[in-house]
Amino acid sequence: MNIAVLGAQWGDEGKGKIVDLLTPNFSIVGRYQGGHNAGHTVYANGRKFVLRLLPSGILHDGITCVIGNGVVVDPQALFAEIDEVESAGVKIGDRLIISDKAHLILPYHRELDLLSEARRGERKIGTTSRGIGPAYEDKIARRGVRVGDLANMDALASAVQHNVAARNRIIPESTMDAGQVMEELRKAWERMSPWVADVSLFLARARAAGRSIMFEGAQGTLLDIDHGTYPYVTSSNATIGGVCTGLGVPPRAIDGVVGVAKAYTTRVGEGALPTELTGEMGNRLRETGQEFGAVTGRPRRCGWYDAVAVRYAVRVNGLDALALTKLDVLDGLSELQICTSYRCHGTILTEMPGDHAQLSACEPVYETLPGWDAPTAGIRRFEELPREATAYIARLEEITGVPAAIVSTGSKREDTIIRAHSVAAKWFGRN
Ligand code: GDP
Ligand code: IMO
Ligand code: MG
Repeated sequence: MNIAVLGAQWGDEGKGKIVDLLTPNFSIVGRYQGGHNAGHTVYANGRKFVLRLLPSGILHDGITCVIGNGVVVDPQALFAEIDEVESAGVKIGDRLIISDKAHLILPYHRELDLLSEARRGERKIGTTSRGIGPAYEDKIARRGVRVGDLANMDALASAVQHNVAARNRIIPESTMDAGQVMEELRKAWERMSPWVADVSLFLARARAAGRSIMFEGAQGTLLDIDHGTYPYVTSSNATIGGVCTGLGVPPRAIDGVVGVAKAYTTRVGEGALPTELTGEMGNRLRETGQEFGAVTGRPRRCGWYDAVAVRYAVRVNGLDALALTKLDVLDGLSELQICTSYRCHGTILTEMPGDHAQLSACEPVYETLPGWDAPTAGIRRFEELPREATAYIARLEEITGVPAAIVSTGSKREDTIIRAHSVAAKWFGRN
C-alpha cells in the first residue's frame, strides 16, 4: 500500500507530524518536490526537528528516505540538516537516496531570488529566499545542473562558467566566481555521492519486492505552480501529479491520497487569502497556534477554515481523506466560522476561481457553528471530543465531501486520533 500525504491548503498544515506518525506503516518515505523552502516540524525522541529536505520519515530507524528528481537540492542546506539530525543521535548511513536527476540550487540562485523579489517591489511573492524559483527556472530552461552532473567535473566546469557569467551580467553587483562555485560543488560531490542513485529504478525494484512507500508533499495545493493562486505560488507541483513526475513512479503506484488541512487556515508570504482575519481573532489564532514560519520565522497570516479551498484540493488531488490538524487551537472560542462559498462582485462562487485578481476580490460567505469550552488538546479518542468539536468536524466533512480520517490535537505523535472504520484505519490496520 503506497500513500501520498500532501498539503490541502497553503502549506504548513502539519504534514511533517502526519508523515512521521504514519511512517511505521511504510518501508520508504519519498519527497517529490520543493526544496528547503519546506519546514516540516516533527517532535520525536523528546525534541523538536524541523525537516527541510530530508523526508519526515528519517527519524525512524530502518526507514529508507528518498529525495526525488522533482526536488531542488541545496547541498549546503542538505549537509547542515544531516549534521543536525545526526548530532541528535539519528543515524542516516545508507538510509538516504538522492536522485541523480534532482536539480541543484547554486549560490547564484539564492542571489537571483533576492534580486527578483526586490525588483518586483509591491508585487513581490514573499518567497523564502532560498533560491527555489531560480533553480526551477534553470531546470525548465534546460541549463540547470543536476546532482548526477557532479560525477563529471570537467564537463560541468564549462556549464558552470557559462551560467555564472550569464548571472553576473544580470546581477551587476555580483562578484561570483565560477572557480569558487566549482570548488563548492567538488566538495559537495565528495560527501553526497554515496547517496546518489536512480530513484525511479530503486522505487520500482522496492515495489516489486513488496516494500511500501509514502510520498511526502511539501508546500500545499494552493501554492502549486499550476493549480495554486498563481503567481503567488511556489515553483513546483505540490499536488498529486508531482508524485509521478518528481519520483518517476507510475500513477497506479499511488493507492491512496491523504490531504493534510488545519482546522483553520494560514498562509505565509503574499497573495490572496479570502478568510484572513487581521484583527484580534487573527492574533488569537497566531498566538495559540504558534503560527510563525518554521523556516523563516515570519508570522503566518491566519483565518477561518476555507472549505472552498479544501474542496478544491479534494478535487485536484483526488483526496481519499483528510488529516485535520490543530483542532486544539480552536479550544475556548465561543463561535467558529466556516467559509462555504465566496461572494465576488455580487455573484456567489462555490468553486475556487483560477484568476488571482478575481480571488482577491472574493469575500468569504460564512456559516457559524458553536465553539467548545472543554479542551480538545491532547485528546486521543474521538469519543472524548466535546460534542461541538465532533459537530464541527462532521460539518467540514460534509462540505468538503471527504472524511477526516485522522484528527490531530497536539504537535506530538501521540496527540492524534485515527478514526475507527476510516480509510486510515483500514490502510493501517487499526480498526
Ligand atoms: P508542515 O510544513 O505541513 O509540516 O507544517 P509545519 O511544521 O510548518 O507547521 C505546523 C506546526 O503545527 C508545527 O509547529 C507543528 O508542531 C504544529 N502542529 C502540528 N499538528 C498540530 C496539532 O494538532 N496541534 C497543535 N497545537 N500543533 C500542531
Ligand atoms: P511547507 O512544506 C508555507 C511560500 C512562501 C511564498 C511562496 C513562494 O513547510 O508547507 P518559494 O521560496 O517557494 O519560492 O516561496 O511559497 N512557501 C511556503 N509556505 N509552507 C511551505 O512549505 C512553503 N514553501 C514555500 O512563503 O509565499
Ligand atoms: Mg512548514
